[in-house]
Amino acid sequence: MNTRLLVRPYADADRDGVILLWRLAFPAEPAWNESSTLIQRKLTVQPELFFVCVDGTEVVGTVMAGFDGVRGWVHKVAAHPERTRSGIASRLMQAAEEGLAGLGCPKLNMQVRADNASALAFYKAAGYQIEDRVSLSKHLS
Ligand SMILES: CC(C)(COP(=O)(O)OP(=O)(O)OC[C@H]1O[C@@H](n2cnc3c(N)ncnc32)[C@H](O)[C@@H]1OP(=O)(O)O)[C@@H](O)C(=O)NCCC(=O)NCCS
Repeated sequence: MNTRLLVRPYADADRDGVILLWRLAFPAEPAWNESSTLIQRKLTVQPELFFVCVDGTEVVGTVMAGFDGVRGWVHKVAAHPERTRSGIASRLMQAAEEGLAGLGCPKLNMQVRADNASALAFYKAAGYQIEDRVSLSKHLS
């Protein structure tokens, strides 16, 4: 285990590091996932469930979790591409799950692109199951 790694809530000083990490981890994000807008939005709702994993001052992982009163959701689960398979995302998911459970959340859902084999392998290893659902969405703004 890398003892230099620390998982903690996001702080303003992490902003540039988070944006850099997301550029590396999500190179093909659609325009509506513009990083600074997402960060700004998350800071208005349950900001305490936005976790980063840091090695010193370097941001090496992220997760944004939220509880809508019925289900929990996670977004932007990411580990630095040069530091995968070192437990970063596992630690972040543990923090997210604990934070959600602390709010009384009974079940956590997430959306994963069907061709994202690494993420699917990661979530399966973390105890998640694929459910027979179709993902729908509608942009409201
Ligand atoms: C998917 C991702 C978050 C995994 O992060 P990670 O920090 O490497 O994951 P961990 O080190 O905690 O992995 C824990 C376990 O998950 C499984 N796992 C993780 N990545 C895997 C892969 N690419 N292939 C197979 N199994 C994998 C393994 O069982 C692993 O344990 P092990 O390394 O002891 O075998 C990371 O690859 C990533 O950031 N990908 C790009 C962004 C992304 O697609 N995010 C998900 C959006 S839904």
